[in-house]
Amino acid sequence: MKLPELPPFNHTPQPYTGPSTDKVLAMRKAHVNPAIFHYYKEPLMIVEGRGQYVFDEKGRRYLDGFAGIVTVSVGHCHPHVVAAANAQNERLQHTTTIYLHPNLAEYATALAAKMPGDLKVCYFVNSGSEANDLAILMARACTGNYDVVALRNAYHGGSPASMGVTAHSTWKFNVPHSFGVHHALAPDPYRGLWGHGDPDAGKKYAADVAELIAFATPGKVAAYIAESIQGVGGAVVYPEGYLREAYGYVRAAGGLCIADEVQAGFGRTGTHFWGFETQGVIPDIVTMAKGIGNGAPLAAVVTTPTIAQALTSRIHFNTFGGNPVCCAIGKAVLEVIDREGLQANSLKVGNQLLTGLRQLQEKHTIIGEVRGRGLMIGVELVKDRVTKEPAKLDSALDGVVDAVARTGA
Ligand SMILES: Cc1ncc(COP(=O)(O)O)c(C=O)c1O
Repeated sequence: MKLPELPPFNHTPQPYTGPSTDKVLAMRKAHVNPAIFHYYKEPLMIVEGRGQYVFDEKGRRYLDGFAGIVTVSVGHCHPHVVAAANAQNERLQHTTTIYLHPNLAEYATALAAKMPGDLKVCYFVNSGSEANDLAILMARACTGNYDVVALRNAYHGGSPASMGVTAHSTWKFNVPHSFGVHHALAPDPYRGLWGHGDPDAGKKYAADVAELIAFATPGKVAAYIAESIQGVGGAVVYPEGYLREAYGYVRAAGGLCIADEVQAGFGRTGTHFWGFETQGVIPDIVTMAKGIGNGAPLAAVVTTPTIAQALTSRIHFNTFGGNPVCCAIGKAVLEVIDREGLQANSLKVGNQLLTGLRQLQEKHTIIGEVRGRGLMIGVELVKDRVTKEPAKLDSALDGVVDAVARTGA
């Protein structure tokens, strides 16, 4: 099987002088928790990155379609981001938020300027899980209510509270983590009850949120949390009007609406900077991570001044959140997205990918559906287009790799 050639690229990776892959694998096996897995029969070691490419220890170049799990939003080692990180690293790496530092204040100002409505107050943390934990805590503190409505097929993280709102059995350990959490139907037009052909699908899925509030809670809720497009669940794009209707029911029950933008944010959907904008809503709390820092441990919870105030009822503190290096990186990432028109680029490249994938879908029955927005794209692989039985990953991948090799797509 002949794979397509990569286009020329002007970067020579540095000679690699570290331990061999076998040695690294042996050290991992001996000293790293086995829950840290890899996907490969022959594990790949990535030691350098530039732009959209990564290099293994032999200097072999790969197009990075994974981007560190949708995290490297402006390209590997972007010079503007590296310069911002280096300059701050050399001057001051860490103090704490009890002292003033311009980076935290300037970055919060820059991020708030990207938000619609009254979403103007930021709290910085280190990961998406932490951001979702904090958002739920804020909602509970602000409303005085406890119950939370989330969606089936959602992924919000692996900490206790975010595992509770996550709804995939594969990610949920058998420990108490979902007390007060209720999972509504996933508004999935491919696999759900109401499909693409139903103009009222959004309303029908949202009605399940109302049902849950009426039958599974005291009639009052603290929050409703949803990814703006479900990422880990397979790039599920909700039917039009879904979030608007769901938000209405939640607010009527005293709850706050949390948008998890960890995957859909920062221009990835192409048409909008935030995924929730594609549904015409403004949430009360927005959580973000991954692409926010291009790989730096940075995440944020952005909300309104009133909701933010609720967190002052007790002491809340995060040692690393808002540290000067991560804030310098976050600000540099925003600047690159704007200067280089990366949102428009997501739309352009995403549309090109969607078109190519849809052409493949016409030829290959293993592709049940191609969906998505911008560079948030899902390809649903099925054994049978009528039963929609999922195709086994190995055979499906072989099929698609063959197809790509044959068509050069
Ligand atoms: C939508 C969404 N929310 C939250 C998280 C958790 O983020 P983290 O792994 O940084 O804790 C993820 C991670 O994949 C995610 O995709």
